[in-house]
Amino acid sequence: SLKGLDLRTEIDRLRKERNAVILAHYYQKPEIQDLADFVGDSLDLSRKAEATDADVIAFCGVRFMAETAKILSPQKIVVLPDMDAGCSLEDSCPPDQFKAFREAHPDHIALTYINCSAAVKALSDIIVTSSSAQIILDQIPKDQKIIFGPDRHLGGYLSRKSGRDMLLWPGVCIVHEAFSETELLKLKAQHPGAPVLAHPECPPHILDHADHVGSTSSILDYALRSPDETLIVATEPHIIHQMEKAAPHKTFIGAPGADGNCNCNMCPYMALNTMEKLYVALRDLQPRIEMDEELRLAAKKSLDRMLDMAG
Ligand code: 13P
Ligand code: SF4
Repeated sequence: SLKGLDLRTEIDRLRKERNAVILAHYYQKPEIQDLADFVGDSLDLSRKAEATDADVIAFCGVRFMAETAKILSPQKIVVLPDMDAGCSLEDSCPPDQFKAFREAHPDHIALTYINCSAAVKALSDIIVTSSSAQIILDQIPKDQKIIFGPDRHLGGYLSRKSGRDMLLWPGVCIVHEAFSETELLKLKAQHPGAPVLAHPECPPHILDHADHVGSTSSILDYALRSPDETLIVATEPHIIHQMEKAAPHKTFIGAPGADGNCNCNMCPYMALNTMEKLYVALRDLQPRIEMDEELRLAAKKSLDRMLDMAG
């Protein structure tokens, strides 16, 4: 039983014993963010995973992120506290269907959001994250036809911004899909002048009301730099933890779902990771990400292109 254990102290002890680094995404529980060696967005986390000299990476995020760490750092042991921490975008894009879609459009390249399986990465030309997508798209010749998957909202946002047509895969993030425009407008009316910061996984009826659109890191940056005292945050609300830590005098309000609060916008997959499971993962070095070497090398090609092009 884990009862009576001081999990923070035990995790610290194991981290040293195992020469492990704990990487956490901004959507993790505050207690996990607070003990992580590094907290970041998907691009930052993949760079850290590639650069670390630790023997073990304890990845507190979702499975595609831990898989990315393994693809970039095959010699390291990568543990994910809960192997069921998936992603609705990954689920929306089964590799066989994606392969058929690609084959139906042989003159298109596949620009693919990192929120997908290793098998879909292996079927793609270039991976992007929300913070690198624009920079990468700008480097692709204007006449090149593009398939963008699996997030149709990020794809639609990039299309509108760049004026380029892309064939969009119909996936969505269930978390960002749940924001309510009606409730957001009510909230804006209650806080006149408060800027809305939104993740590009939000549907267009939410992005239309945003003053800033960007990745989790970019939203955090904006929130801290902005002179505004009250800000509305339209992404998974656990990121507000970092905002409140860095700017305790400001007020950050999570954008609401249809019920008028931001509880329905918590990512159920991210929430599967707990302090207990992180402790067990470091103790047992399980559950571990394992990957077939051929698949890893195929997926690494499109990821390496992203890392090169993102600058
Ligand atoms: P970023 O942290 O790259 O903005 O991604 C958000 C997200 O939904 C991760 O699952
Ligand atoms: Fe996937 Fe959305 Fe959760 Fe991110 S917030 S892991 S995109 S379901």
